Amino acid sequence: MSVQTSHIDGSFADRLLGWYDRSARALPWRIPPHSDAVPDPYRVWMAEIMLQQTTVAAVAAYFERFTARWPTVTALAAAQDADVMAAWAGLGYYARARNLLACARAVVADHGGHFPGSEDALRTLPGVGDYTAASVAAIAFGRPSVVIDANVERVMARHRLIETPLPAAKREIRRELAPLVPDDRPGDFAQALMDLGATICTPRSPRCAICPLMADCRARGRADIDRLPVKPPKKAKPQRHGLAWWIEEDGAIWLVRRPDKGMLGGMRALPGDEWTDSAPLESGILHVDHGFTHFDLRLTLVRRESALAAGEGEWWPLSALDAAGLPTLYRKLTDKMRERVA
Ligand code: ADE
Repeated sequence: MSVQTSHIDGSFADRLLGWYDRSARALPWRIPPHSDAVPDPYRVWMAEIMLQQTTVAAVAAYFERFTARWPTVTALAAAQDADVMAAWAGLGYYARARNLLACARAVVADHGGHFPGSEDALRTLPGVGDYTAASVAAIAFGRPSVVIDANVERVMARHRLIETPLPAAKREIRRELAPLVPDDRPGDFAQALMDLGATICTPRSPRCAICPLMADCRARGRADIDRLPVKPPKKAKPQRHGLAWWIEEDGAIWLVRRPDKGMLGGMRALPGDEWTDSAPLESGILHVDHGFTHFDLRLTLVRRESALAAGEGEWWPLSALDAAGLPTLYRKLTDKMRERVA
């Protein structure tokens, strides 16, 4: 029966790209549709790494700062580890920053300072997984790779009414999407799906009436469209606890660097003990709560004498704390401390 599709004007890709030509978001890392500019793989890669697990709104300022300070992959490869970690502070998922540096150095050492263009070669670089390899291949090199992020998953699960829960649904989504990727504009196609997911096919209350893919969307008009894609049941997060030490002397506090491996690896931090499953016996001056991917943490701040400020660490002036590059968890503590004093 062809009745259902008889009124559809153009292929999936044509409709999507037509919409993108009119509605693409202007983003700092993006070459607008039909521009003559040539994408810079370094900028495309940097954006895609930053955008993993992080919103476009949060990434924009970091992207501008990083690319202004380190305009090329060679410049980034030559940066000090500590400078890059401090510049990343606040973006979260700090393994990405360590891999960012490792990747830049690998591109310089093994590829003459030029990113390779194929998905397979990209995937061999540190921190570059299936998603990043596909997105950089498509957006920077025009390769017809199948790019699937959470926005794309949502658009496709709805358009094809895929009821399988994630992550199992990924295979079906890939199978449905692969034949739709156009050879001529694969990068725009990928970014158009992302923009559609971010602005029209939103998690809740999608704006189906103005969607370029509405005519053959199998979920359109369903009262329960928000349910798609079906997510796996949420696991309860364990609650963990830790102490952080406030060691202050002459207007400075003692800061340490966390070990490279593990949570917040390589980041500057307040000293403290190991995080555990049981609440500390000390009540402390104040506490903050922070959600990580796999657990919630309550960090309690206690005063300690400066005699403890031995070993590896540095005195950091309280007046210059903003420049310390503390990750958000510790920023919450120092901000709260500052409020108490103010
Ligand atoms: N999310 C991840 N990559 C993106 C991109 N290139 N454009 C818009 N949103 C994105």
